[in-house]
Amino acid sequence: MATDVHRPVTETVPTTKTPSAATPTGPTGATGATGATKPSAVRVDGLTRTFDGRAVIDDLQLDVRPGEFVALLGRSGCGKSTLLRILAGLDRDIEGTVLVPRRKAVAFQAPRLMPWKRVWRNVLLGLPGKPDREVAERALAEVGLKHRTSAWPKTLSGGEAQRASLARALVREPDLLLLDEPFGALDALTRIKAQRLVDELWQRRGCAVLLVTHDVEEAVLLADRVLVMDQGVIAYETEIDLERPRGISDPRFGELRAELLQRLGVEASAEAAAS
Ligand SMILES: Nc1ncnc2c1ncn2[C@@H]1O[C@H](COP(=O)(O)OP(=O)(O)OP(=O)(O)O)[C@@H](O)[C@H]1O
Ligand SMILES: [Mg+2]
Repeated sequence: MATDVHRPVTETVPTTKTPSAATPTGPTGATGATGATKPSAVRVDGLTRTFDGRAVIDDLQLDVRPGEFVALLGRSGCGKSTLLRILAGLDRDIEGTVLVPRRKAVAFQAPRLMPWKRVWRNVLLGLPGKPDREVAERALAEVGLKHRTSAWPKTLSGGEAQRASLARALVREPDLLLLDEPFGALDALTRIKAQRLVDELWQRRGCAVLLVTHDVEEAVLLADRVLVMDQGVIAYETEIDLERPRGISDPRFGELRAELLQRLGVEASAEAAAS
């Protein structure tokens, strides 16, 4: 994997902090004056987010290494999207410290394309300056969608729209890619293709990825590390010690899957019965 795109933590910036927040460690604090600590792509310390007096995120700690692929699991409503939105800088009403790379991009479950703009214009949406159409074309080629450059969003299939959304994220050349259930609405086959695409893009780009998903197999297939969120914190985490490419027939894959299901409160046998 390329290392030149891995930003040291000295190039991260605090997204926000409140006056009552813990003193931010700051870029140098994160690495330590001697550089003794490993660099991080994401460093979250004492993060709290409250809605109507209820702490959905409650003194949460999180570190993501540069280039690391992390999957985030957790029951519905536990705060995964809230955490992602904070990391993306879309929600700044927080307490605590959040250090993230300057270059970051986010893709959501719904592709969120503007129907009145052609695909390539959607890809460039929000980029500073006046980037050329070729910039969008290159990103669209990377996700296998160059032939739909001039299409209107409503003419795209669900999988194509999701790939356009990924191209929009890639064109920002992120050091941190935030994905919130990006494959949730896709059919099984398109989903597998989209997972492979994200895997390839991650290996090629070398950016850190935080993927929110409900799919335990997807998490074990793609991630270096899987986190389980509960009660406002990262309640459990495990490194995925499997060679890539991974196969679900590997016994170790089954063990990791079963462990995570248990941590999520789903017994593997109950899940098998339901499917
Ligand atoms: N803007 C808001 N105002 C009030 N409550 C909110 C707001 N945004 C989120 N919440 C609440 O915070 C909690 C966490 O929401 P969040 O969307 O982060 O959950 P999630 O883990 O992403 O769930 P899911 O898996 O269903 O997507 C929920 O109880 C939700 O109702
Ligand atoms: Mg969510």
